Amino acid sequence: MAAAFFPVLVVSILLLLKTSFSSPPSDLQILHAERQIDLTSHIVRVYLTLKVENINDAPASEVLLAFPPAQFNHLALVKAAVAVGKRKKKSYVPLQVNPAEQPDAPNGTKYYAVSLATQLGKGDSTTLEIFYILTHSLEPFPAEISQSDSQLVYYHDSAIILSPYHIKHQATVVKVPSNKVESFTQVEPSHQSGTELRYGPYEDRKPYSYSPIIIHSENNHPFAVVEELEREIEISHWGSVQVTEHYTLAHAGAKHKGIFSRVDYQSRPIAGGSSFKHLLAELPPRVHSVYYRDDIGNISSSRLRTSSKKSELLIEPRYPLFGGWKATFIIGYGVPLQDFLFESAAGIRYLNYSFGCAISDTIVDKLTVKVVLPEGSKDPSAEVPFAVEQRLEKKYSYLDVIGRTVVVLEKRNVVPEHNVPFQVHYKFNPIFMLAEPLMLASAFFLFFITCVAYLHIDLSIRK
Ligand SMILES: *[C@@H]1O[C@H](CO)[C@@H](O)[C@H](O)[C@H]1NC(C)=O
Ligand SMILES: *[C@@H]1O[C@H](CO)[C@@H](O)[C@H](O)[C@H]1NC(C)=O
Repeated sequence: MAAAFFPVLVVSILLLLKTSFSSPPSDLQILHAERQIDLTSHIVRVYLTLKVENINDAPASEVLLAFPPAQFNHLALVKAAVAVGKRKKKSYVPLQVNPAEQPDAPNGTKYYAVSLATQLGKGDSTTLEIFYILTHSLEPFPAEISQSDSQLVYYHDSAIILSPYHIKHQATVVKVPSNKVESFTQVEPSHQSGTELRYGPYEDRKPYSYSPIIIHSENNHPFAVVEELEREIEISHWGSVQVTEHYTLAHAGAKHKGIFSRVDYQSRPIAGGSSFKHLLAELPPRVHSVYYRDDIGNISSSRLRTSSKKSELLIEPRYPLFGGWKATFIIGYGVPLQDFLFESAAGIRYLNYSFGCAISDTIVDKLTVKVVLPEGSKDPSAEVPFAVEQRLEKKYSYLDVIGRTVVVLEKRNVVPEHNVPFQVHYKFNPIFMLAEPLMLASAFFLFFITCVAYLHIDLSIRK
C-alpha cells in the first residue's frame, strides 16, 4: 500500500513545489534600470527602461512591476512595450499589463504583471519600456498661498526603484518645472543640475530596496482637475452628432488665502502665479453651433478657431480660478454625422468618437460618457481600449415612442492619454427613420381631419 502511494505523494509534492514556485520573482534580475520622473505638470509621468535577464532554468513569461500602496491608488495608466530590432530599425511592440497578486508581498506592495510576447529562456535578456501616470501625487506645501505667491509642492517617491528583483545597475532623473527647488532628499550620489535632479547610479540593490525621498519644488502649472464630467453624444440619423458636456472644474493647487483683488491680478504680471484665466479645448475639425455657458447664461468671451485638422475653443470662465475654487459650465456642439458614424456590415453601424476630456492637460476624477442611440437601435456594444464600467439606460425625448437606448460608460482617474477613439456598435433598421416623419404626417393629417370636421359641425349649427 505504502509503495503504491509513494509515487503519488512524490508527484503531489512536486506539483506543490511547482505551483508555489511557478513565477518566483527571483527567477529574474534586472541588469540595468533607468527611470525618468516628469514633474513638470500636475500629472506625474514616469518612464522606466528595464533590461531584464532570466537567471533560472525555467522560461519566464512575465515581469512584475512593484508599487507602494499609496502610489498604486493614484495610478491612472500603466503601459509596457518591448523594443525589437536594432538602432534605426528599432520599433516598439505593446505588451499586456494587468494588476497582479503576489502571496507574500512585503509592506502591502502592489503589482502589475507585464506579459512577455515570447518566453525568456535561461540567460536570455530583453529590454522593456514602461510608462505610467500618477494623478493627485503633488501635494501643495504650504497648503494655502496668497494671490501673488508662487506655488510649492511636495513629491514623495523612492531613490531606489521598488522591485521584486535584484537590480544590478540603476539611475533616476527627476525633471522639475523650474530650478527653484526648495529641498530634496539626498541619497548619495545625488545632485541637482538646473531643472534636473539626478539620483544614482546605484549598484547591486537587493529586491524590495527602498529609500524614501521628498522633493519640494516650485510648480506654477495650472492644477486643472475636472471633478466630474458628463459627456452626452447623441446620434441623429438625420445628419448630425450632438455633443453636450457638463463640467465641474476645480483648481486643485494650494488654496487661495486672503481676498482676491482684481486690480492686483490685472496690474502685476507675476500675480496669481498658479491661477488660470483660460483653458483650451480641442474639438473635432468640422464643429458647428458651438456654445459655452454656465448657470448665468452664455459666456461670450470664448473664442473658436477652426482648421481642417482640428478646432480649438478657448474657454474663459467669468473669473480666474485660484486654488480651491470651482467653476461649472457646459460646452455643446454639433459635428457632421458622416465624420463619426460608419457602417461595418449590413445593418450594423458604429460610432467612432474620442473618449476622454477635450480640455488639454486635465485630470478627470469621474468621467461618464453617454452615447444616445437613435430610436429603434438594437444590440448595442461598446469597444473601449481600457477597462470601463458599462450599463444601458433609456432616454425619452420629444417625439419618441419607444425611447432611445443609451450606452453609459464610466471611468475614474482619466488623463489626457485616455483621449483615444472608442466605438459603439449597434443594429439599426432604416425603416425606423420613417417613424418620426410618419408620426408628424399623421399628426398633421389628424389635425386637418379635425379642422374639417369642426368646420362641418360649425356650418351645421348655423343652419
Ligand atoms: C446662447 O448662445 C446660443 C448659440 O450661440 C444661442 O442660440 C442662444 O440664443 C444664446 N442664449 C442666450 C440666453 O443668449
Ligand atoms: C476611429 O477614428 C480614428 C481617427 O479619429 C481612426 O484612426 C481609427 O482607425 C477609427 N477606428 C475605427 C474602428 O474606425
